[in-house]
Amino acid sequence: MTDAANPTLDLLRTRRSIVARDMGQDGPSAEQLEDILRAGLRVPDHGKLAPWRFIVFEGTARKQFGGVLERAYLASGMPDEDDRRQFERERFLRAGAVVAVVSIVNPESKIPEWEQVLSAGAVCQNMLIAATAHGLAAQWLTEWYAYDDMVNQALRLHENERVAGYLYFGSVVNAPGERVRPDFEDKVSRWRPEI
Ligand SMILES: Cc1cc2nc3c(=O)[nH]c(=O)nc-3n(C[C@H](O)[C@H](O)[C@H](O)COP(=O)(O)O)c2cc1C
Repeated sequence: MTDAANPTLDLLRTRRSIVARDMGQDGPSAEQLEDILRAGLRVPDHGKLAPWRFIVFEGTARKQFGGVLERAYLASGMPDEDDRRQFERERFLRAGAVVAVVSIVNPESKIPEWEQVLSAGAVCQNMLIAATAHGLAAQWLTEWYAYDDMVNQALRLHENERVAGYLYFGSVVNAPGERVRPDFEDKVSRWRPEI
């Protein structure tokens, strides 16, 4: 297989998120979702802490959690306008399934907190890649509710836990366009010793 025809490299070169409002609800299948979740388990993780866990919202749970989002939104004091309550109630229905990736920091560990959190970011990216490889739409979102205490209580998060992302998975309705990417030369430098 030539480099150009390598499907993994090709996916990495071309992967795009498909935003939640543009995805369909036809998928992932139960098998696809399990495969995506398993891909999330296989990330680099210094010290074998597995410093993350995943909460799945599928089927009716997506609508039921909408009740939590609506109540938390109203309690937050953010403006209740333009059918916002209904939007919050139906937020998770934009996707076929939503997965909250929860970062767990063990403060007793000798592994720095920064590295434990980074591992949760790797989980999110692995899951996006796996979903895209399955031909699905996927997006990593935090929006307001990843940072809301009421919502986090409803997730029954512990003190050392935070939401790294809500991953939305659905079906592809329209192929996404490209997005402006950073310039290679701006981002890549090569270290040289000072003379
Ligand atoms: C941690 C994290 C949180 C994000 N939260 C949001 C968000 O709340 N709203 C949003 O529009 N995009 C958010 N994004 C960006 C999108 O998921 C996505 O990266 C962006 O649309 C570009 O997608 P692509 O580069 O994967 O094609 C977030 C990205 C990351 C890494």
